[in-house]
Amino acid sequence: MNLKGRSFLTLKDFTPEEIAYLLDLAADLKAKKKKGITGQSLKGKNIALIFEKPSTRTRCSFTIGCIDEGGHPEYLGKDDIQLGHKESIEDTARVLGRMFDGIEFRGFKQESVEILAKYSGVPVWNGLTDLYHPTQILADFLTLKEQFGHLKGLKLVYVGDGRFNMGNSLMIGASKMGLDFTILAPKSLWPSKELVDICQEYAAQSDGKITLSDELDAVKGADAVYTDVWVSMGEEEKAEERIKLLRPYQVNAELMKKTGKDNTILLHCLPAVKGYEVTEEVFEKHADVVFDEAENRMHTIKAVMVATLGNI
Ligand code: CP
Ligand code: NVA
Repeated sequence: MNLKGRSFLTLKDFTPEEIAYLLDLAADLKAKKKKGITGQSLKGKNIALIFEKPSTRTRCSFTIGCIDEGGHPEYLGKDDIQLGHKESIEDTARVLGRMFDGIEFRGFKQESVEILAKYSGVPVWNGLTDLYHPTQILADFLTLKEQFGHLKGLKLVYVGDGRFNMGNSLMIGASKMGLDFTILAPKSLWPSKELVDICQEYAAQSDGKITLSDELDAVKGADAVYTDVWVSMGEEEKAEERIKLLRPYQVNAELMKKTGKDNTILLHCLPAVKGYEVTEEVFEKHADVVFDEAENRMHTIKAVMVATLGNI
């Protein structure tokens, strides 16, 4: 599999085989790191990390993944560079592309990361936009593979805000990889019809399934229940309305009971706002897997950089 020179902007651009390859590579890099073996595949490579929004996991994963492979990461926070304030994204992209070998971008608009990729001439990796969070999905799926040994046919239920980065990206990834995927949310927070239609086509190819529901019984049979914050970065002014809308969809012991299973796992991209999208009790019960998932951000992000930029 050759992904050299490719950007990683949305999972829509990747085939199921390419996604499977990235997951296998991440598992391999993880196993090596556990034995104390790191690589040199990014030796001599300089990597820019642009963050318009804050981050713990994504920033640290790019930083450590890069250094583990012998590369040099440079953090560029929103107040550190001219991007979008004094200088167009096109011009910043052309400057950074002449100095750096790869660029990570986290910010608001998907269009920004696409312009960076178009004008920089180097691989650009999406570290989260309002629309998508593709590197997170790789970590989620690596965690599911570790827990269940496979992805196809697993019933994954995402509970919460279904029309933002996490709902959208999980639906794309799940439909590409043949999962039985449900978005459980009030209708006003369902993903766009346009994206659902695209994902229905992916699901038809992969023997996957997509269900949208606003009924709590939709969690029945779930192998994994996934949730995310009710109020995403940049949407703070919607907090009150969102809490009112999503309160009935809290992942609590009662909802977990509705799965009808006692081995359903919890996934959460983190950070978690306990007492809102998930109770402390449910979170702590499943904390080991949730923190495996957080650790897996690093192994999967390393795999993306190694596959698209590394000497392997
Ligand atoms: N899950 C995730 O992207 O976490 P950060 O916002 O801390 O990067
Ligand atoms: N939906 C969340 C994801 C955080 C990783 C946000 O955008 O804030």
